Amino acid sequence: MTRIDLDKYDGFYAERTGCLRSSVMRDLMAVTARPEVISLAGGLPATSSFPEKTLARVTHEIAMNSCAEALQYGPTEGFDETKKNIARVMAEEDTLVDPDNILVTTGGQQGIDLMARIFINPGDPIITEGPTYPGAVPSFCGFQADIIQVPLDGDGIRTDQVRAEVERLMKEGKKPKFIYVIPNFHNPAGVSLSMERRLELVELARERQLLIIEDNPYGQLRFEGESLPTIYSLDDDNNVIYLGTFSKIISPGMRLGWIVAPTPLLQKFNLGKQAADLCPSTLAQMVVNEYFREARWQDYVERTTAIYHKRRDAMLAALEEYFPEEASWTVPQGGFYIWATLPEYLDTTDLLALAVEEEKVAFVPGEGAYVDGRGKNQMRLAYCAVPEDRIEEGIKRLAKVIRNQMALYRALKGE
Ligand SMILES: Cc1ncc(COP(=O)(O)O)c(C=O)c1O
Repeated sequence: MTRIDLDKYDGFYAERTGCLRSSVMRDLMAVTARPEVISLAGGLPATSSFPEKTLARVTHEIAMNSCAEALQYGPTEGFDETKKNIARVMAEEDTLVDPDNILVTTGGQQGIDLMARIFINPGDPIITEGPTYPGAVPSFCGFQADIIQVPLDGDGIRTDQVRAEVERLMKEGKKPKFIYVIPNFHNPAGVSLSMERRLELVELARERQLLIIEDNPYGQLRFEGESLPTIYSLDDDNNVIYLGTFSKIISPGMRLGWIVAPTPLLQKFNLGKQAADLCPSTLAQMVVNEYFREARWQDYVERTTAIYHKRRDAMLAALEEYFPEEASWTVPQGGFYIWATLPEYLDTTDLLALAVEEEKVAFVPGEGAYVDGRGKNQMRLAYCAVPEDRIEEGIKRLAKVIRNQMALYRALKGE
């Protein structure tokens, strides 16, 4: 193959692609797939516990009885049956929605991308948590949003600071296009938004006529504590757009998610989706719908959540035992992730190279969850995909790399 000059295509790219960077997580997938590496990086659901026989039965049923339909294009908004099943899933979180207000998407990720595509003009302010879901950053940056990241603490996003930011913007004659939040078992921070703050957000949206985007892939994966109502269910002024997904409750391989929104917005999202990919996968929808007919989907969710619970406990115990006392971390009550903070002088992107190279352990550096260089001394540790004994070994190895770097720093400082 001939070598191609790397600059050859530079003049062709749109300006907005300048900020697009591959996520460290995606780059890592090749490395972390190596069997000798313990990966605490990927937010991979425990699909190995999905009953193979169920999938075999369901797919066989479709192939024998609805083959032509399964292989055909379908409606942009998804099949009625899919939407009814989605409404059932949401009812499990005490959130009642009309199936007509649902648009089926290609994963939850497409929901995020449609929000960016439909709402953001270059330079428009939006508000997100700091840190935010690293996978949302390229969508928002790609449409050239001015991303304002409001810090979160153990109770989720600081709503007092959200209010202050909104007031500041309004004084400048601007308004955020939306406030994007992940209220349950946040990716990457692991924390959940308190009831008080959910109500404050809803109130702020009502007062200032703002849009909230509630991204909730993990809400059903609670293994501890009391469930909290969705922000969508607390709002009675049509200010909340809800994003959901089957990825964490059935399978990310299905690539099926959804948006719930007031009718006028939904029509715009539908047009955006037509432009993006015409329609969600018919085959995947039929698999999900058949699965809902033949099995109690909650059983699988309960089983995997019990697995995540044990794995979280294993990770917390290992952190307690091996991590230096200068480190701190969040304690999630569900979901996949723990967010750890190290001494400020450590850079977790540098640390990752050492961790993979020297100790064969991977994690996600914190930097990708911010747009302004924050998060350098933070890391996301996913316990979802690794058995307990490997979690302990992984944290032990990681702690060794961290302690070595801390010792090196102290030696250089002459301490
Ligand atoms: C907060 C958040 N939103 C959206 C997604 C995208 O999920 P999907 O696999 O449904 O595209 C993820 C995936 O990890 C996520 O963590």
